[in-house]
Amino acid sequence: MALYAIGDLHLSMSADKPMDVFGARWENHVEKLREGFSALTQDDVCVLCGDLSWGMSIADCLDDFRFIASLPGRKIVLKGNHDYWWTTRAKAERFFAENGIEGIEILNNNCVMYDEKTAVCGTRGWFYEEETGAAHDKKIMEREIGRLETSLKAAGDAEKLCFLHYPPIFRDYICREMLDMLSAYGVRRCFYGHIHGLGHKFAVEGLNYGVDYRLVSADYVDFRPVRVL
Ligand SMILES: [Fe+2]
Ligand SMILES: [Fe+2]
Repeated sequence: MALYAIGDLHLSMSADKPMDVFGARWENHVEKLREGFSALTQDDVCVLCGDLSWGMSIADCLDDFRFIASLPGRKIVLKGNHDYWWTTRAKAERFFAENGIEGIEILNNNCVMYDEKTAVCGTRGWFYEEETGAAHDKKIMEREIGRLETSLKAAGDAEKLCFLHYPPIFRDYICREMLDMLSAYGVRRCFYGHIHGLGHKFAVEGLNYGVDYRLVSADYVDFRPVRVL
């Protein structure tokens, strides 16, 4: 059994959203993902770090979830800024059960145990793009920090690996509240997505403030899930 992560599948099997408009790297990206996932076995686990589907409702995402379920291994999914279909964990789980979709778990206000001593923790996170200073933005930020803490707390004494959609650290931006939370719970490794194309060169990777960061957005990692454990 091995643990992997990849973000930003940006699927649109039922919606008219060709991804190659975002650059040549995205041409045939579904095929590239299928190929990338062929390195995994049914025993493996892969965390999908948000921006799963362009579908506007969960019903629009049926073919995308069928595709995700068809890839080898168990999947743990968290929310990205483009996941408009996302409502509640209970609704997603009911939708999966009603449609025979197996092996996809939702990471939101919880943690998912990878094995007895390792917990997959995380949330969507917060990004400077939204840092406009308005009061309601602060509320969103606090909610995300709260979700991260709930997730980390749920992991108890297990080793906590953190998976986010937004990078808590990017270019010259640092989300101090997120970093403090990671540090308070002893997180040493953090994986994130969201950053595409030209943004890649500003991505922060490696050891920063005691945490090892890794960008795993699909176009950055050539559509191959990155081995975590
Ligand atoms: Fe995103
Ligand atoms: Fe994305």
